[in-house]
Amino acid sequence: MKQKIGFIGAGNMGSAILEGMLKKKIVSASRIIVYDKIAAKSQMLSKRFHVARADCIGDVFRESDVVLLAIKPQDFKEFAAETRDLIRQGQWIVSILAGFSIDRIREEMGRVDVVRAMPNLGAKVGQSMTVVTGSKKRLALAEKIFQGCGDVVRLPEKCFDDVTAVSGSGPAYFFYLMELMSEFALRKGFPADVATRLAIQTGLGAVLVAKNSEVSCSQLRKMVTSRKGTTEAALTVLQRRKFGRIFQSALLAASKRSRQLRK
Ligand SMILES: NC(=O)c1ccc[n+]([C@@H]2O[C@H](COP(=O)([O-])OP(=O)(O)OC[C@H]3O[C@@H](n4cnc5c(N)ncnc54)[C@H](OP(=O)(O)O)[C@@H]3O)[C@@H](O)[C@H]2O)c1
Repeated sequence: MKQKIGFIGAGNMGSAILEGMLKKKIVSASRIIVYDKIAAKSQMLSKRFHVARADCIGDVFRESDVVLLAIKPQDFKEFAAETRDLIRQGQWIVSILAGFSIDRIREEMGRVDVVRAMPNLGAKVGQSMTVVTGSKKRLALAEKIFQGCGDVVRLPEKCFDDVTAVSGSGPAYFFYLMELMSEFALRKGFPADVATRLAIQTGLGAVLVAKNSEVSCSQLRKMVTSRKGTTEAALTVLQRRKFGRIFQSALLAASKRSRQLRK
């Protein structure tokens, strides 16, 4: 990638995306500049990955072609007021701010090309599911950026509340399931570390099988559920108590909440 990327915000997500891009050699360290309000965070990234560190936000706008915004949504207004006049011709923005539409960003920042992305926590281990939308001219490059930290798909912006419900908040649902499984093992008297390992390694194995399988998750489930067996006993309880329907309502609630937060 030839373009110079300016990271604003070097927290969980900013640093994960940066690390992924460098590890996969999507961009060289010499083409990255990082700025964070907390200087120690950008200093740490600069030292670890040999990327440039900006002393002020103006340097990022002066020196980059793409500005990757990885600050918290509540900091956006102040950020926009400070930087609106710093955008140069041809410069574009990638925003990962949850709940901030492209129109809203352009309202605050002016007529600039924007790509909106929704990554997830998987970015920390190079396994994000990232959905991107926005400026057609810029989407291919934005996809490349996020391929550094996992899988990427394009979807229209109108899907973003549902994307937030499925993949944005998704890691927490898997954590919850593993939490419940290890809780059961703990109650049965297993040592805590063993209970956790049973749940996490089982989750990891299942995910890898699903990822490498040619058949659907539903078919995989049926394949491992023998008639009158133990798995069937468990799944029958879940189905009788309408776990499927409960889970669908949970996803709907997340999507609805995302819509509310946007307003
Ligand atoms: N975490 C996730 O799983 C996830 C998933 C999808 C999308 N997102 C989105 O990703 C964004 C970043 O999340 P995160 O978890 O990485 O947050 P984070 O760890 O808090 O990182 C944000 C960093 O940006 C700094 N900052 C705030 N205002 C700034 C400014 N004007 N200039 C430079 N730096 C500034 C913050 O400093 P202070 O701490 O001093 O404010 C903090 O160090 C959020 O908008 C979130 O909606 C997160």
